Amino acid sequence: MSKPFLHPQSLVESPHIGAGTRVWAFAHVLPSAVIGSDCNICDHVFIENDVVLGDRVTVKCGVQLWDGLRIEDDVFIGPNATFTNDPLPRSKQYLAKYPQTVVRRGASIGANATLLPGITIGENAMVGAGAVVTHSVPADAVVVGNPARIIRYVAPREADVATVGAGTSDPSVRVRGVQLIHSPTISDLRGNLNAREVGRGLPFVPARYFMISGVPTTAVRGEHAHRLCKQLLVCLRGSVTVICDDGSERQEFLLETPEIGLYLPPMVWGIQSKYSSDALLLVLASHNYDAADYIRDYPQFLTERRAYAAATLERSAGQPTAPAEERRTASGQGGGRPGH
Ligand SMILES: CC(C)(COP(=O)(O)OP(=O)(O)OC[C@H]1O[C@@H](n2cnc3c(N)ncnc32)[C@H](O)[C@@H]1OP(=O)(O)O)[C@@H](O)C(=O)NCCC(=O)NCCS
Repeated sequence: MSKPFLHPQSLVESPHIGAGTRVWAFAHVLPSAVIGSDCNICDHVFIENDVVLGDRVTVKCGVQLWDGLRIEDDVFIGPNATFTNDPLPRSKQYLAKYPQTVVRRGASIGANATLLPGITIGENAMVGAGAVVTHSVPADAVVVGNPARIIRYVAPREADVATVGAGTSDPSVRVRGVQLIHSPTISDLRGNLNAREVGRGLPFVPARYFMISGVPTTAVRGEHAHRLCKQLLVCLRGSVTVICDDGSERQEFLLETPEIGLYLPPMVWGIQSKYSSDALLLVLASHNYDAADYIRDYPQFLTERRAYAAATLERSAGQPTAPAEERRTASGQGGGRPGH
């Protein structure tokens, strides 16, 4: 690979610049910064010491990367995007250690966006121009505004969208533990009857139910995983989209009939969006409401999911723990998030 190109008017004090990386005029890189290969560091960029950039990262003009920043491979940072590393800044007062802000692989930060300290921008996420990002952004989410809110998810691949309709054959479900559970409607002159009972269309004893209707927007409504609670989602009227994610596979289901329930086991990340204006969603739950049962942070979910998958596999095998690599192969989870 070619050596890095350092423009004669740049000031690069770090020796850690990867092959093929180009650093343009008036950029300043401090001595301990680490920059991977094939990056493009444009004019007037400033990179402090405790900063690590992966490979093929683009940093457009006028960006400052402060101590505590970790930028993974293939990230795009738009012109004049602003990072911060001190939540309560005071002149001449310095933190002993700066909070870490992480921009995961493949994410993009729009022009002039501002990111508050200590957050994580998920893999492949997209931060809109001028957004003020106050919380971590989940993988694949598109956020805009001040404070930034999710407006949609990056379009899933066609193969990842499954319409679950009456009369259509079931799509193959790839997200571990998720099931489509049928309950045919019986119709006669008196009307239509659709019923489920435990063991027949209902895979657990429900402790509660709740219904969602009148959602005023097609934007995202629910987004979390449960540690213990099982759920069955039945769309009684209209349509709603549910994205299911087991940390490895992600699939989107369009629910539009009460005849098919979507079973969400514990430790599967679920996102509901695109409610039609007449949508009525019934959710049957195996446990009473408990705020501690919710995981609302996607990176936290991924951490717990890995531990959960390993523990489940060990229990089912009933034998000594296999090396981590073997466990991943045996469970069919290759690590990472293929297909996004
Ligand atoms: C966030 C972004 C990716 C969304 O693109 P999109 O999915 O095609 O979205 P749309 O243009 O369809 O807009 C959807 C809605 O979000 C709003 N919106 C889009 N981008 C917005 C932004 N940055 N801030 C606030 N609102 C925004 C639109 O006004 C629209 O609202 P409406 O439905 O009420 O009219 C894009 O607008 C953006 O900001 N891209 C970054 C551009 C950039 O900084 N490039 C840097 C390299 S030069």
